[in-house]
Amino acid sequence: MLEAAKRLIAPSRRSDVPPFMVMDVMAAAARLEAAGVHVVHMEVGQPAAPAPATALAAARAALAKPIAYTEALGIPSLRSRIARHYAERHGVEVDRERVIVTTGSSAGFMLAFLTLFEPGDRVAIACPGYPPYRHILTALGCEPVLVETTAATRWAITGEALLNAHRERPLAGVLVASPANPTGTMMTADALAALIVAAEGAGIRFISDEIYHGLDYAFPAATAAQFSPSALIINSFSKYFCMTGWRIGWIVAPPALVRPIERLQQNFSISVPTLAQVAAEAAFDGRAEMEEIKHGYEDNRRLLVEGLPAAGLDTFLPVDGAFYLYADVSRFTNDSHDFAQRMLREAHVAATPGVDFDPVNGHKFIRFCYAGSRDDARAAVERIGRWLARG
Ligand SMILES: Cc1ncc(COP(=O)(O)O)c(C=O)c1O
Repeated sequence: MLEAAKRLIAPSRRSDVPPFMVMDVMAAAARLEAAGVHVVHMEVGQPAAPAPATALAAARAALAKPIAYTEALGIPSLRSRIARHYAERHGVEVDRERVIVTTGSSAGFMLAFLTLFEPGDRVAIACPGYPPYRHILTALGCEPVLVETTAATRWAITGEALLNAHRERPLAGVLVASPANPTGTMMTADALAALIVAAEGAGIRFISDEIYHGLDYAFPAATAAQFSPSALIINSFSKYFCMTGWRIGWIVAPPALVRPIERLQQNFSISVPTLAQVAAEAAFDGRAEMEEIKHGYEDNRRLLVEGLPAAGLDTFLPVDGAFYLYADVSRFTNDSHDFAQRMLREAHVAATPGVDFDPVNGHKFIRFCYAGSRDDARAAVERIGRWLARG
């Protein structure tokens, strides 16, 4: 092909983000299943259950009328309902004018990063961490700054670590998640408050990814809204409310940022899918059903925490929340990608290699998602035990 013609179809440099390696595991699992093998799926971070019945009923009823655009910031009654959630769960007043409905938290990141940062800005994120943070920041021309976390700080960014990175070269922002993906660890309210104070004292904008709120087992998750009106909060109906495919989430922004985010959303997508908004508002009435599902995760968590050490995987991070267990497999391998592939091929258990989440130490870890059935959790422990015993 002529050089000029090649240039016409060449992708931009900023679109060159890495793939999600869990996809390799999923593809290999699908091939095994096509060959008749029963695979225990613990690789994908999503609930197996459907949205609450209240949400499904509201969506069905809404179909009787035209599904039209909504206001760019979201249906007013949904924004009010989300604001009320902060009073109910955390005893903190959030003005509904600060709530912006988004197409999942994923769209929330794009809107937030564009509103908060200029190209070239440095933004601290925890390592290990959710890969799209760094990939979205990179695609938007910002620089993700990976702050390594360790057992000494319960796998969270501390004020000290943040300010050290800031002294090296100034940071414009920091993003944390509690409960976190892939670690499943949480920050105590004190740790979160201290980090917000350190960040904002140094002029670093604070973003709190609270997508796994509601799925806390070790202690109640605190919201950044309790500690600062300047923090930007991102949340979603995907996990607690089992609504991944509905693509619906929200932002709580400082008042001065609402209008800029609204303008971006108007231009990017006009509004968030209306059916998903209607369902999301009704989802808040389905909490009893979701609590039952959460109890199932708690059972799975107990099965893994008690069973995996006996099966041979005895080192993992505190299993505080979300539905992840992050296991250290360095006793067996220096290549978690290969370990995950072999565990799938030989034990028929699919899990995600840590290299997806941590370019530094991820080769020593694998992530199990325990959002499936109790039978899955039990079978995983048995299969891994037999597999590791075989050597
Ligand atoms: C930590 C974290 N944040 C955000 C997301 C994105 O979720 P969604 O766009 O479905 O709200 C995920 C998805 O797995 C996640 O693990």
